[in-house]
Amino acid sequence: MRKAARKRIPRFAYDYLSGGIGLHSALRNNRDALDNVIIIPRYLVGNADHPRTGCTFLGEQYDFPFGVAPVGLGGIIWPQAAQHLASAAQSHNIPFCLSGFATASIGEIADVAGKHAWYQHYMCADEKLNEILFKRALDCGYENLIITVDIPTVTRRDHDIRNGLSVPPRLNLRTLCDAARRPRWAMETLLSGVPQFQNYREFFPKNANLEKIGMFIQEVIEGHASLERLKRVRDQWPHNLIVKGVLNPDDARDCLHIGADAIVVSNHGGRQLDAAPSAIDCLPAIRDTVGPDFPLIADGGVLTGLDIIRYLGKGADFVFAGRAFMYAVGAMGKPGAAHVMNVLSEEFRCTMAQIGCGKIADLPGFLEPGS
Ligand code: GLV
Repeated sequence: MRKAARKRIPRFAYDYLSGGIGLHSALRNNRDALDNVIIIPRYLVGNADHPRTGCTFLGEQYDFPFGVAPVGLGGIIWPQAAQHLASAAQSHNIPFCLSGFATASIGEIADVAGKHAWYQHYMCADEKLNEILFKRALDCGYENLIITVDIPTVTRRDHDIRNGLSVPPRLNLRTLCDAARRPRWAMETLLSGVPQFQNYREFFPKNANLEKIGMFIQEVIEGHASLERLKRVRDQWPHNLIVKGVLNPDDARDCLHIGADAIVVSNHGGRQLDAAPSAIDCLPAIRDTVGPDFPLIADGGVLTGLDIIRYLGKGADFVFAGRAFMYAVGAMGKPGAAHVMNVLSEEFRCTMAQIGCGKIADLPGFLEPGS
């Protein structure tokens, strides 16, 4: 899917999606850390021919313990990417998380995915904007709010800067030629309209040019999510509050203490700090800190159903994948969304049966000690 997407979408979009930060060490490490998790199959006992893959997570029943991670700017990967994935998530009975910086709006995605839609938010410097967007999510029926805490300041990714995908965007000749070389993408993008930050459009300064919009977005996202601010969100949000981007057990303990309902152990797909540890390596210490019952989601590097099993074996209750879904939509358009969900589900089910594990809760017992 990744290779096919690379041929079908412009270079700037592919680089944005596939890239990490710096020298891509954290990105590589996410994959290596997953590959190092060894599972020892048990063939002669039990009856795992029909493993139970369903789970109850944060009060909802899902068919599988994985969902679609928030990805900003999905519309540059493929027009309507968020809508396609949200709709497929709804029919596969798994959650879809909308990024605050998606190119689809909170309302649109609620209409498509109903209670399968979760909302992820970056704290805005202006508290009024936070309140408006939380209220909108609440009014649209969202029950799961994720606050991402691992972007305390503007992120510099070399490939995005080189490609003009910066704030503000710099559309140079190379970027335009790049788009023209992908006629199907260019045609569908023209038909759908230029992707926009739908949740923030109405707050843009009046008659602003691209430069001014860029400055506005920069100010909006310069909102460090401190513990104090998370406590205020806790008071405002009556449903599940999930904190994303936690790697340090002390941060995990703080989240527990302020009454968060879950955390996402994540290094943001290797896109924020090149020296960050992988989520899977952080899971055991965080599990020890928060105890056996606190809901933990994890993400980073997931490309197969086996990867999801590795995360669950290491102590996660639920797993997100971002790029895997986006590559499929970039490669195939709308049908890619359901296709990749079918592949991941089947891989998940077959791997459970292959190792002789009949239920998710037993997965930690299949890991090689120390892996
Ligand atoms: C946004 O969340 C990004 O990683 O680009």
